Amino acid sequence: QVFFKSISNAAPPSPTKRHTKISVIGVGNVGMAIAQTILTQDLADELALVDAKSDKLRGEMLDLQHAAAFLPRTKINASTDYSVTSGSDLCIVTAGARQNPGESRLNLLQRNVALFKSIIPPLVKYSPDTTLLVVSNPVDVLTYVAWKLSGFPANRVIGSGTNLDSSRFRFLIADHLDVNAQDVQAYIVGEHGDSSVALWSGISVGGVPVLSFLERQQIALEKETLEKIHQEVVHSAYEVISLKGYTSWAIGYSVANLARTILRDQRRIHPVSVLAKGFYGIDGGDVFLSLPAQLGRSGVLGVTNVHLTDEEIEQLRNSAKTILEVQSQLGI
Ligand code: NAI
Ligand code: LAC
Repeated sequence: QVFFKSISNAAPPSPTKRHTKISVIGVGNVGMAIAQTILTQDLADELALVDAKSDKLRGEMLDLQHAAAFLPRTKINASTDYSVTSGSDLCIVTAGARQNPGESRLNLLQRNVALFKSIIPPLVKYSPDTTLLVVSNPVDVLTYVAWKLSGFPANRVIGSGTNLDSSRFRFLIADHLDVNAQDVQAYIVGEHGDSSVALWSGISVGGVPVLSFLERQQIALEKETLEKIHQEVVHSAYEVISLKGYTSWAIGYSVANLARTILRDQRRIHPVSVLAKGFYGIDGGDVFLSLPAQLGRSGVLGVTNVHLTDEEIEQLRNSAKTILEVQSQLGI
């Protein structure tokens, strides 16, 4: 009561708004892009940061705290001790090795699986009711690993998956058509990687299926152009990594976009890595792949049963096969 004198004897009402806590594990390029987007978009009351490098961790925490005068109030803590994550509503895992120029995401598997064995159990211990959002690569296999290590129901273990690829796809289509990317609905599904699948039949602009839109606008957008755009999406990360050494801003916004939907129970549909076994004839084992999924406070509310062409289903099954082959070597 140093600065303020109460004007009534009534006890202050207990806060009705639910306290929201997010933990970000790994404060590298990606973890910090996610953290600063969470702060600027006011997505949490409390943000906990974890990393193996204590100096970097403290430095990043202080640097964010020093921006407090320009941001919505958010309590920011950091520690190498996982108890700092206690009671998290959402745990975002970005810790791990990243690709060197020209390296595929799957090349990172052995290094990052080993890390997950030391990261996932303490997260579960301190936040048994949390939702895990995996970003580290190869994200689909690591989401499977997080699911197995956590013992959580599959609805509470999500990979950022092709939410990012779909954002790149929407940008490139919008750029080609000179429209706003937010008015372009387009899904990339399957592996967040070289075997991703573009859902041509689902592309719409302002709600109008793209093929008829283009006939009306007389804009030539043959299948070849769309295929070229998809290949550009597949190669995006390799290009950015060869130019700046890593990718960060787009994944930062992509993951914050997912966090908002989950924590504010927005029930929006996102292409994210979910347990895909049983969908579109994907059998042969437990595999996480991106499918259009409805997300809310309890994680994955359901997977939409969108129409896929035979070709798209075939490609999706190939994507699943790629992941399962890699997964089978893990012994998890
Ligand atoms: P980075 O090297 O900048 O950061 C990784 C951080 O993880 C470092 O600060 C490191 O100290 C920390 N770390 C390593 N071992 C740890 C442990 N045992 N416990 C806690 N922290 C630990 O790498 P960057 O660029 O942030 O990428 C991180 C991961 O995110 C990579 O696997 C990368 O491939 C992936 N990524 C995934 C994307 C997606 O769309 N799913 C997009 C961009 C990156
Ligand atoms: C990406 C890689 C790094 O930016 O996963 O898509």
